[in-house]
Amino acid sequence: MHSPSTRAFMRCAETFCSEEFSLDFAGYSCPFCGGLLDIAYVFSFPESADAMKDVFRRRRLVTDGPDLSGVWRFHEFIPFASSHTQIVTMQEGNTPVYEAPRSAGFAGMNRLRFKHQGLNPTGSFKDNGMTTGVTRAVQVGAQAVACASTGNTSASMAAYAARASLRAIVFIPAGQIAYGKLAQALEYGAEIVEIEGNFDDAMRIVREIAATTGVYLLNSVNPFRLEGQKTIVIEMLEQLDWQVPDWIVLPGGNLGNTAAFGKGLHELFTAGFIDRLPKLAVIQAEGANPFYRLFSSSNRSELVPVAHPSTLATAIRIGNPVSWGKALRALEWTNGSVEQVSEDEIAEAKAVIGRDGIGCEPASAATLAGVKKLVSSSTVSPGDNVVCVLTGSLLKDPTYTIDYHKGNLAIEDDGAKREIASLRANKPMRTPAEAAAIRRVLGI
Ligand code: F0G
Repeated sequence: MHSPSTRAFMRCAETFCSEEFSLDFAGYSCPFCGGLLDIAYVFSFPESADAMKDVFRRRRLVTDGPDLSGVWRFHEFIPFASSHTQIVTMQEGNTPVYEAPRSAGFAGMNRLRFKHQGLNPTGSFKDNGMTTGVTRAVQVGAQAVACASTGNTSASMAAYAARASLRAIVFIPAGQIAYGKLAQALEYGAEIVEIEGNFDDAMRIVREIAATTGVYLLNSVNPFRLEGQKTIVIEMLEQLDWQVPDWIVLPGGNLGNTAAFGKGLHELFTAGFIDRLPKLAVIQAEGANPFYRLFSSSNRSELVPVAHPSTLATAIRIGNPVSWGKALRALEWTNGSVEQVSEDEIAEAKAVIGRDGIGCEPASAATLAGVKKLVSSSTVSPGDNVVCVLTGSLLKDPTYTIDYHKGNLAIEDDGAKREIASLRANKPMRTPAEAAAIRRVLGI
């Protein structure tokens, strides 16, 4: 697996610091400035970029081994697993890019595509990162792994830890995680610790636990996880036959994915796989919008956390995103943009994505709502080539979807309940079990 001539090391992601460490450095942040770390490379590919593209394509035909994975198929970009046997994989990635004509029309676009990361083994993009993160945990001899989570990370980590026979410990905000996800984490055998607090509290505690015990941390502060997530854009570019889109749009919560996409695109560009960079557009919910506020302000040097983040898109209900610095760097590299969307906008966009026969969870639908706004403000043109990343499965949060279609969706803010508009509700019909009555209801 190892490309002998590529040099891999750790580097502080803060540009004013950029201190370098060996790949075996055990911490998650820079001991000098406290910044997050990157895995950095001096790449040396065995063949030219064009020849490597052929190699990647040919690997899709294999019937065995790590190249079945849509992450490890690109192992020259993640050269830190030294043998096939070390890799913990569930054939993650390999997710489709779909045309979405109804969604395009809704957003005012001529054409729109979705890369559906919700079709991963545990139902979210986290699997792309967990395969590299858990592989690293095994490499360093960890016995236990841990994460804070709003749902998807916990399910993904629990599955990969089970595959690798590691103990899995999950910290979740009490009562705030979608049922589908809790069910997965329990079934895969993770130990669940419910924290009386929100995701940001859980994140603070898990970092403290990891720093003071031998437990291996698998949140996105772990740079090995982000290396897997960067392959989402590598695979996407391959699917687009390396034709660079104008925009890649994704939801922003803890901002690890934004950081990973920026790094992946930057590496593709500097290694000559693409001739320009797409712009990244990050979409946040209005009630959990610290990155939107940072990006819109004249002083981008310090993120001001949102103390009480509030959104029904629980995946992105995050007030103090750990990767904001790396995410800002990604937006600067790609000349990108940040938008915020309301609860009503998310709910309607989600229903539209459903009508394209695709479907996703609420956080993912923020992308379509965001594109619609970016078209209205002329940031995105109707003719632009746009790919949105749907980060999680429709099945994560059935309660949200059913409440919406029954016209019962509501959010509680400061104790007050506010109804969310169900403009595209698809209410189930109830009739007596008689053919005549059913025909009347259905109009057939
Ligand atoms: N979309 C989904 C479906 C997610 O689960 C998450 C994050 C995000 C978007 C935001 O991604 O944090 O990289 O900006 N979920 C985490 C979790 C926090 O615990 O599952 P990000």
